[in-house]
Amino acid sequence: MQVWKEFQDNNKDRFLAELLEMLRIPSVSADTSHAGDIRTCAEMVRRRLLEAGADSAELHETPGNPIVYGEKIVAGDKPTVLVYGHYDVQPPDPLELWDSAPFEPVIRDGKIFARGACDDKGQFYMHVKALEVMTATGEVPCNVKFMIEGEEEVGSENLEAFVRANTDMLRADVVLISDTSMISMEHPSLETGLRGLAYMEVEVTGPNRDLHSGVYGGAVANPVQVLCEMIAGLHDKDNKVVIPGFYDAVQELSPEERKQLNEAPFDEKEYKKDLGVGELRGEHGYTTLERTGIRPTLEVNGIWGGYTGEGAKTVLPSKAHAKISMRLVPAQRSQDIEKRFAEYFTSLASDGVTVKVRALHGGEAAVTPTDSVAYRAAEKAIETTFGKKAIPTRGGGSIPIVALFEEALGIKSVLMGFGLDNDNLHSPNEKYDLFNFYKRIETIPYFHRYFAQMSQ
Ligand code: BES
Ligand code: MN
Ligand code: MN
Repeated sequence: MQVWKEFQDNNKDRFLAELLEMLRIPSVSADTSHAGDIRTCAEMVRRRLLEAGADSAELHETPGNPIVYGEKIVAGDKPTVLVYGHYDVQPPDPLELWDSAPFEPVIRDGKIFARGACDDKGQFYMHVKALEVMTATGEVPCNVKFMIEGEEEVGSENLEAFVRANTDMLRADVVLISDTSMISMEHPSLETGLRGLAYMEVEVTGPNRDLHSGVYGGAVANPVQVLCEMIAGLHDKDNKVVIPGFYDAVQELSPEERKQLNEAPFDEKEYKKDLGVGELRGEHGYTTLERTGIRPTLEVNGIWGGYTGEGAKTVLPSKAHAKISMRLVPAQRSQDIEKRFAEYFTSLASDGVTVKVRALHGGEAAVTPTDSVAYRAAEKAIETTFGKKAIPTRGGGSIPIVALFEEALGIKSVLMGFGLDNDNLHSPNEKYDLFNFYKRIETIPYFHRYFAQMSQ
């Protein structure tokens, strides 16, 4: 509607300035030395919600980081939209690979560069500004609730208890989340599924202390070597995960569903070029879109042990470690997979070492319906502001809360994410397109209007 657009155009510089101010707060949840920044950021979100027109907004304390909850209730007979997002960000390391400081946002080539620009401050903040646009212009079609948490990047440890303890407060007709990607600026899309996650840490111990590699080398098992052999034993030559039962619960898509999934635009040459790789590699028998959307995978996230400092130190290390995560698909249960991993991984150890396996965090996969009123409202809103129909895609990332909302509150989600896969989420030089930021603030009020109209 013209009034919405006019209000936004008149305030766009301030909208951006506010986002940049939030991006300056290093709200890194993985690093407890940032606890103060986490709180500053949560306070800012609360204040911005109130300024945008929320009736109330509070910080809810948890044993970890506070959850910001705010709402604007317009009428009991209107549908209710629960917006979920996260104000915490990933650590910025490795710092030396950033072209500009991660917490000093700059605009280059029409893009905002900063940690959190896309994941998820830039994205959830569009919803705060959309609320302001709607309130200021006097058309708020739905009740709106906001739940913005501060522990998403570390596994949302305390969110489940909060959700279960506040089912009345959180009651809604749909959960609306902008924390996923779309295909490209030319091809708006809506994710219709997310993968689950089982994240493990392993430790292999050999001798009881680091040894001189000349004096003892050749006589005892080297834990770094053993760990490498164990990791190499987790996939077969077709790149399938060999953990017994790993694929048992995996549902194969019908040929029709696979065909639809592969119809999404995908330029393999461009993809390889963007990543700087000559060839792609993945599970035999599946396309890249399938490998990253509907197939489970196992990745080594990091591996360390022994001497890694400057120069040469001759040492046979006592310990070796790795962080290994598995992306899961619907019907695979993270706890079951954790157990299978632990058993199999331990069985790969050779004599002379002991192995410890620990599950760090997990979450379940989710699929969201494409025939719901909310999905159709999102499609229509995107069509209105983009002039194109959104393509349904299956996302590879994880937002464990989606499955929890469904189980604990019985509410389905719509994943109206506006990032791009190459926005460098979790990487150096994270960015978010400015055009996108504005375009989506424009799109969100339409979602609310269509959702209210279509719910009647
Ligand atoms: N926003 C991402 C998830 C995402 C990114 C979904 C891109 C789809 C496309 C989220 O912040 C995230 O990073 N989640 C973690 C899982 C979490 C349990 C740490 C992930 O996917 O690794
Ligand atoms: Mn995110
Ligand atoms: Mn993330």
